[in-house]
Order: sequence, then C-alpha cells, then structure tokens
Amino acid sequence: MKQLRTQVGIVGAGPAGLLLAHLLHLEGIDSVVIENRSRQYVVERVRAGVLEQGTVDLMIGSGVGERLMREGMRHEGIYLAFGGVRHRIDMAELTGGRAITVYGQNEVVTDLIEVRLATGRPLFFETAEVSVHDSSIRFTYNHEPHELHCDFIAGCDGFHGICRQSIPAADLRIYEREYPFGWLGILAHAAPSSDELVYSLHERGFALFSMRSHAVTRLYLQCAPDEDINQWPDDRIWEELNTRLATSDGWKPNQGEIFQKGVTGMRSFVAEPMRHGRLFLAGDAAHIVPPTGAKGLNLAASDVRNLSLALAAYYKSGSEQQLDEYSDKCLRRIWKAQRFSWWMTSMLHRSPEANAFDQRRQLAELDYLTSSRAAMTSLAENYTGLP
Ligand code: APR
Ligand code: PHB
Repeated sequence: MKQLRTQVGIVGAGPAGLLLAHLLHLEGIDSVVIENRSRQYVVERVRAGVLEQGTVDLMIGSGVGERLMREGMRHEGIYLAFGGVRHRIDMAELTGGRAITVYGQNEVVTDLIEVRLATGRPLFFETAEVSVHDSSIRFTYNHEPHELHCDFIAGCDGFHGICRQSIPAADLRIYEREYPFGWLGILAHAAPSSDELVYSLHERGFALFSMRSHAVTRLYLQCAPDEDINQWPDDRIWEELNTRLATSDGWKPNQGEIFQKGVTGMRSFVAEPMRHGRLFLAGDAAHIVPPTGAKGLNLAASDVRNLSLALAAYYKSGSEQQLDEYSDKCLRRIWKAQRFSWWMTSMLHRSPEANAFDQRRQLAELDYLTSSRAAMTSLAENYTGLP
C-alpha cells in the first residue's frame, strides 16, 4: 500500500472541500483532496447559483473572485409573485447595501479547481474504495491502494458521502424533515426576461425564475418528490411555467431551447455535532436545506471558513480552542438558515396536506410580507446572509 502524509486530508471536491483546500493553502497548511468522481462530472453537475454577500467577499478576499467579479450578476432585489402580481423586495435598500450574486456552483467549482491545481498540491479525482479511519484515509487511485496519514480529516463529501456515516450512530444526533414535493428544474437558452429572481406562489404550486448568464434562464416548478421527468415534454414544461409565473402586467419568462432538466427532492437535515475526534464535517455532509432560501452553497462556504481559521490557529499556537468551538459556532448559523429555508419553503409551496384555511393564511402572509417594511427587512437580511 502506498503511504502518503499530509496535515489535513479532505474527502470531497465539491465547493466545501475545494474552498477549504484553498483557504488552508493560504495559511501555509498542507492538504490532500480525495474525490471519487471525475473532474468533468464535478464541474458539470448542475446545482445552486446564488452567492450571499459574505460568500462573494470570501472568494474575492481569498483571491478566487476575479471571474466572479467579471461574470457574476449582482442582484439588489428579488420579486415575490402571488395573485398575478409581482412585488419587489429592495434588499440593498433594506439592508444598507447588501446584495446577492448569481454565479453558478459549476463556475465556483471550476475556479477553485484551477487555483488548486496551480498550487501543485494534490487533488485526486476518480478515486475508489474511500474509507476514513482515526488518523488516516484509505483509497485506491489508478487501481493502486493508498493510505493517507493526516492530523485531521475534513468530511466534505456531501449528503451521500461516507464521512458522516463513519461516525457511530450513538455519537450523532440527526434532525430531519422531508417535504411532500420536489422541484423540476430546467436550463434554457433564453435571455432572462427579468433582471432579478421571481419566486411565485400559484394555485397550481410554486415556480421560480432564475438565471445563469445573460443568455441562459434557469427555471423551476414545484412537482411531486418522485416526479417522472419523462412525463414532462418541453411544451408541457413551458405551459406550466407560464401558467404559474406570468403576471397581469404581461411579464413572463422568455422561451428557448431546454438543454438540461432534472427533478430534485427537498429536505431539511442537520447532523450534530459536526466533529468526531479528528474528523470535522462541513457542508452538505452535515446539513441539507431545501433550495428555496438559496443557502446550501453559502453554508458550505461559512463552515469551511470557520474550519480553516480554527486549523490555522491550531497550527500557529497549538491551541485547540477554536477546533473545540467549531461545531457550535457553525450550528448557530446553520439553524438560522434552516429556519429561513423552511419558512420560505412553507410560505411559497402548495402542500398536498394543506386545506383552504392554510391557503388563505399563506396568501395573507405574502400580503403582510410585501407590505410591511419590518417583514421585508427580515427577509432581506436573511436572504443576503446573516453575519
Ligand atoms: N469519496 C470521495 N468523494 C466523495 C465521496 C467519497 N466516498 N462521496 C461523495 N464524494 C464527493 C462528491 O462526488 C462531491 O463531489 O464529495 C463531493 C461533495 O460535494 P457537494 O455534494 O457539492 O457538497 P458540498 O461541497 O458540501 O457543497 C454544498 O452543494 O448540494 C450542493 O446546494 C448544495 O450548494 C451546496 C453545495
Ligand atoms: C438557482 O438559480 O439555481 C436558484 C436560485 C434561487 C434559489 C434556488 C436556486 O432559491
């Protein structure tokens, strides 16, 4: 077995693992990243696209924001649509200038892989049989077994990864909620017909208008969690999107060729604590939010920011205090994002269990939200990102 040694072994080359590797490199800390998929798969996987102000600041501040500054689309507001009317929430005005930036997770991952490879530090794609142990990670690469000895292991391997599962069940507390719906998402070659996102509640369910660039529109429809995508030819998708999104002022999304479509389920999930011995969980490995609050990628970024600072303090002074505080510190932010994501999801989706009372209450909530400055401010500060 080939023996390797590093300071921090990182499992997973999603946004969490790659950003952690980059932040550690800036602190002069050595790491090895182990990913079981190919580089192409990791880059092409279609995921989230909304970066909070803090995530943007972190990327720019750590020297990986050059393309983000050029190509990212800064949005100072969002629309909430219901009853055929769009209501704008001016997030920047309500929060003293905070905004979000639309920049696909694919682009974030592309940029992070590039800076990682430029450092010359190891990043293994297409590994197999990855397993984590007390102070080592075993895996095969090019059919050759490897053992990587490390001071710490960062479990950045997403919801279905092996790191969380390696922790004895008795040492973890799981908090979970599944929703009785999913999202059918598409990418279309169509110029966005609005400069800002539109979150819409319609009698037939939720729909979301988003974008990836000046030429690509991203759209979602609430559907069943196990919806069969084959029942959705393009014409049916456009008809349903227009029904749920079009407003009485004549606004609707521009249509174009659909070049990607898929269905995702929705859940809220938290595993506590985010540490077991030398293993630290970060990102989707420890928590999942429903996408309505656009928080998944941002939580991953703030976890690894905390972890990199705690590891840097340890290697500088030998103090484990920040490592000991890592889980609690992350969880305070995570639970607030969980609450916000749950709230946005329940406010904007039609639940099969809801009765007529629930539906009227939902509309009253949206009416209140879009007419109260206090309520809009609360949405704006959560959406652009809590400290
Ligand atoms: N060994 C090595 N790598 C693994 C293993 C394994 N056993 N299991 C999973 N991985 C890899 C996955 O292939 C993936 O590339 O770990 C990576 C985890 O990445 P993400 O799932 O993107 O999770 P994370 O980096 O925490 O980023 C969270 O992703 O799900 C979105 O919306 C979410 O934007 C959020 C972000
Ligand atoms: C996206 O553009 O993919 C997107 C935007 C906002 C969300 C979720 C996803 O709340």
